[in-house]
Amino acid sequence: MDPIAAFDQFEQTALTAIAAADDSAALEAVRVEYLGKSKGRLRDLQSLVGKAEKQQKPLLGKRFNEIKNDVTAALDARKENLTAPKAEAAGLDVTLPGSPVEFGRRHPLIQTIAEFKDIIGRFGFSVAEGPEIEDEHHNFVALNIPPEHPARDPLENFYLAVAEKSNPAANGGPAPRLLRSQTSNVQIRVMEQTEPPVRIVSLGRVYRPDTMDATHSCMFHQMEGLMVAKDVTMAQLKTVLTMFASAYLGHDVPLRFRPSFFPFTEPSVEVDVLWDESGWVELGGAGMVDPNVLAAVGYDPEEVSGFAFGLGIERFCMKRHQINDIRRFYENDVRFLRQF
Ligand code: PHE
Repeated sequence: MDPIAAFDQFEQTALTAIAAADDSAALEAVRVEYLGKSKGRLRDLQSLVGKAEKQQKPLLGKRFNEIKNDVTAALDARKENLTAPKAEAAGLDVTLPGSPVEFGRRHPLIQTIAEFKDIIGRFGFSVAEGPEIEDEHHNFVALNIPPEHPARDPLENFYLAVAEKSNPAANGGPAPRLLRSQTSNVQIRVMEQTEPPVRIVSLGRVYRPDTMDATHSCMFHQMEGLMVAKDVTMAQLKTVLTMFASAYLGHDVPLRFRPSFFPFTEPSVEVDVLWDESGWVELGGAGMVDPNVLAAVGYDPEEVSGFAFGLGIERFCMKRHQINDIRRFYENDVRFLRQF
């Protein structure tokens, strides 16, 4: 046979055999048969080159190299193809759109708390922490709330069952404890431990056995504020609250200060915001720290004065985002949470 024809035939049969090999073992057998070092058919071609006439040799040599390279490349390509994972075999359609990655996000109240700290921090208030399980001294007594005050009614508070049963006055058992009904407990704890001047806020949960509805929850969040120093005034209190509300709700937000009463402040006010056409909604209470409270923590009411405020965090967040039902915050409905 003409050597060139023999070369062509070799190439064709080798490529066909490579394409037909359908697993790695079959492919390896093809490799040995065609390219094997000792008995491979390529060696026969090589000897054809050796035996050829002198003028034909360069041409045959070139063709030999071409074929060797082509067949080797085809083998490598087939090998890669056989070992690649079979997406389709695994029932995977790589042309389908991917499933979207869901990102978590911070709860709107957590975002609000972070922003509150940021804004009030610019007024020089630092953040204090206090316990949610509190004794009567810090939740009531030191705040000048007398035993007969309606806020101390056990039905208005969440007392812990253990303490309630043990009647401490009679047998010296553990003092009654309750879930704090206000963050004002932190005022007392901070003043007990620090000398004036004091400028703190404390943000956290408070608990009241209210019936849940669109504006009430048995657990909600407050930001307590306290500033005590020489010559602190009501004008400063109004300025801080007005500037704080403007920073969070927009600078032209209409606020209203209404005379009110709290046992731990005198004078006292309630702070309202114009909610919508239907009227005003209370954001919280505030006032000048009552001298009895200053005395209860060992401060001298003749030396220092102070203001305090307690604001409902949910209310602010609801006002800003036009949320009409406080229960949305606690239902964990992702359709709601995703919007923040
Ligand atoms: N503790 C009061 C409340 O929960 C709010 C308040 C705080 C009022 C500080 C005056 C001063 O209603």
